[in-house]
Amino acid sequence: MASEVRQRAKAQSASPLGPLGIEAALEAKANPSIQPRPKIFDEFALTDRVAVVSGGNRGLGLEMAIALCEAGARAVYCFDLPEEPSEVFVASREYVSKLGNDSRLEYFAADVCDQQLLWKKVEEIGDKEQRLDICVAAAGILKPHIECLEYPADVFREVVEVNTTGVLFTAQAAGRQMARFGRGGSIILIASMSGSITNRDHAWVSYNSSKAAVLQMARSMACELGEKRIRVNSLSPGHIYTQMTAAYLDKQPHLLDKWSGMNPLGRLGRPDELRGVVTWLASDASTFCTGSDIIVSGGHHSW
Ligand SMILES: NC(=O)c1ccc[n+]([C@@H]2O[C@H](COP(=O)([O-])OP(=O)(O)OC[C@H]3O[C@@H](n4cnc5c(N)ncnc54)[C@H](O)[C@@H]3O)[C@@H](O)[C@H]2O)c1
Repeated sequence: MASEVRQRAKAQSASPLGPLGIEAALEAKANPSIQPRPKIFDEFALTDRVAVVSGGNRGLGLEMAIALCEAGARAVYCFDLPEEPSEVFVASREYVSKLGNDSRLEYFAADVCDQQLLWKKVEEIGDKEQRLDICVAAAGILKPHIECLEYPADVFREVVEVNTTGVLFTAQAAGRQMARFGRGGSIILIASMSGSITNRDHAWVSYNSSKAAVLQMARSMACELGEKRIRVNSLSPGHIYTQMTAAYLDKQPHLLDKWSGMNPLGRLGRPDELRGVVTWLASDASTFCTGSDIIVSGGHHSW
């Protein structure tokens, strides 16, 4: 009886990479002709996968897109507002083309608020590549602080439109293609620690609210899409120096020490410190992770 349960449990959750860890050790013990080799990096490999990344013209989106390319993705399609990609994107695309792993970084212009355009563009990617495996919804905006009791309707709506509704439209566009090809997939919604904590002295009622909604969006979509093997998680960074945060920090230099002192590591994060976690979430190394919020904040939320 116990062994029947064990067999059923094994069949339910067989790794696409074959036996790993203890199972691989037992297989090698039973069959001495098997030469053991490390497999942990195979689990992180994104060989031949196809991805879309919103807000991928710069900042965290572009940083994460490069990581996916380095992990072996066939193509990572970044999109953002400008008609033409930035210089930093062009340099990154050239860098990826020289990695020697046949990975491609691509760019197209689209506004995350345009649901029909996103669905169409990502469907075209599906038609061309015949698969869609990974989505990183990184586009977002942060507005200057305005007191919550005075917060204007149009600014609040704009922030929610991009940071929440636009994230849904991006995830939908990718998820529809993942469902179409039936191979499952991984959708990573870039939220923020500001979705679950509120910073003393710089509460942003629109940003905090829009990001909190993304945490629940990830859980809700994960529950609906699990049976299609489409995983949905949110990734919540702490303070990282990018153009978004530079808008505050460069104008108020004293904030650097202040924000750095707000986490136990005593510094801001670097954009590249999200490379590992996004690759993990995108890959087969995280196949049992869905509906979770992964906080990468230097411990900011622990205080
Ligand atoms: N930098 C941080 O400290 C930090 C912390 C937590 C969360 N985040 C989140 O990470 C994500 C990336 O932020 P970043 O720091 O790289 O900022 P960023 O401003 O450098 O990048 C955001 C990108 O989103 C794009 N974008 C904005 N509105 C768009 C729209 N309507 N359609 C398409 N693209 C649009 C921008 O053009 C820009 O390229 C955001 O969602 C942000 O809220 C950042």
